[in-house]
Amino acid sequence: MKLIIINGPNLNLLGKREPEVYGNKTFEDYFADLQFKYKDVQLEYFQSNIEGELIGKIQEVGFSYDGIVLNAAAYTHTSVGIGDAIKAVTTPVVEVHISNTHKREEFRHVSYISPVAKGVILGFGLQSYDLAIQSFLK
Ligand code: DQA
Repeated sequence: MKLIIINGPNLNLLGKREPEVYGNKTFEDYFADLQFKYKDVQLEYFQSNIEGELIGKIQEVGFSYDGIVLNAAAYTHTSVGIGDAIKAVTTPVVEVHISNTHKREEFRHVSYISPVAKGVILGFGLQSYDLAIQSFLK
């Protein structure tokens, strides 16, 4: 089982960024917890603040990996390109968000990822990633 977590813009600042929304833990620390918990899963992590790099990574892994856990962050609400990339590849994508975007500003209620994702998990803090991984193991 080969999975990758792909994080979009500003998620490199987790731990520092708006802790009341996103918590106090860095993603690197949380990723180490996930690797420890899912020892039998080949788990990779990629983050970029650049839309084209996210699309490039989806294309690169999207015909061979078993699953992509994608938090496209702000690009969720704007990126036709990321949505098209997900449609173009064969690897299923589970969309995740740390916060419950539907409880927040209206512009966060729109997602270009949801219509092309296998499923969506949001609002459970960092645990959203864990739940997404579990969805691929069942
Ligand atoms: C987010 C929600 C997005 O609206 C926001 O732009 C993010 C993080 C989340 O995980 O809650 O950067 O994807």
